[in-house]
Amino acid sequence: NWTMLNIADESIQAVRQQVGAKRVICGLSGGVDSAVAAALVQQAIGDQLTCVFVDHGLLRKGEPEQVEKDFVAVTGVNLHVVDAQDRFLAALDGVSDPEEKRKIIGREFIRVFEEAAREIVHGGSGGSGGSGGSSPQRGAEDAAEPVEFLVQGTLYPDVVESGGGTGAANIKSHHNVGGLPDDLQFKLIEPLRTLFKDEVRALGEQLGLPSEIVWRQPFPGPGLGIRIIGAVTRDRLDILRDADAIAREELTRAGLDRDIWQFPVVLLADVRSVGVQGDSRTYGHPIVLRPVTSEDAMTADWAKLPYDVLQRISTRITNEVREINRVTVDITSKPPGTIEWE
Ligand code: XMP
Repeated sequence: NWTMLNIADESIQAVRQQVGAKRVICGLSGGVDSAVAAALVQQAIGDQLTCVFVDHGLLRKGEPEQVEKDFVAVTGVNLHVVDAQDRFLAALDGVSDPEEKRKIIGREFIRVFEEAAREIVHGGSGGSGGSGGSSPQRGAEDAAEPVEFLVQGTLYPDVVESGGGTGAANIKSHHNVGGLPDDLQFKLIEPLRTLFKDEVRALGEQLGLPSEIVWRQPFPGPGLGIRIIGAVTRDRLDILRDADAIAREELTRAGLDRDIWQFPVVLLADVRSVGVQGDSRTYGHPIVLRPVTSEDAMTADWAKLPYDVLQRISTRITNEVREINRVTVDITSKPPGTIEWE
């Protein structure tokens, strides 16, 4: 559509103006906002952009591949992947408190991103040769063109909300790079600042991004870490990832993706439930399906999924994920419940 073409063109021009010959980095989360922002900046300045993807091991099945393969294939972007799974697991070891998990994930995320940014800034990846020209304030080991800009997928509602409301400020805290150290101060590029979510999606389609990325439902920064009720371990993540993948697959197959705002699947890792399979007793874990409808996540209704869809999900999960022997559905609205369980 021509409006989106215009918006894309104008933003691309604006980014070129702003950046000149400088280099730019961008963090990719797997979500639609950072993907669209990165794709747009890539079209504007090509190889001057380096994207950083921190794989913290808390993403859903197939999501790292979507970033590392599909996104790169479509955009041709320079991608720097950090496999930080062990580090996050170690940092989260034994922690069950939701806010503690958030703090740890947020802190580790910033640290890993910083390290990657430092490597790119000082290691000179993308900058050719070793010729001088380092800017006066920076260290002697700088690449030819320093990294001066950081891309952020800030949307219009984020701009409006960041007046300091407790929820919004808190929710976004782990993506907030305001706390980067002195040698890593970037100017921001925020090409989506005037757009709403549906416009960002339209722009993503315009830029040719895969629909799994463009139509991805909102997903919390701390990821599956706050969908395991109890401490996070590798085994628990694997169990939850399998169950979650089945739920998503069946929702898509039923054609309900775009009617459902979010569909958390929650593993009650510290709860055990007796069941029976064949002629033996099982002692596994329950999971909770939490499909909701919403306009903006501030309030939400539990989604009345068709019984046959629920039944397929339940049957498949209990058949295919050995450790789960009970499937429940959360029928609490927000308020008083929240969308996530933690
Ligand atoms: P709740 O659970 O508070 O969630 O109803 C409202 C929306 O925010 C998302 N959410 C988060 N997003 N970091 C995020 O980036 C977080 O720590 C976080 N906690 C909740 C949630 O998925 C929903 O979209």
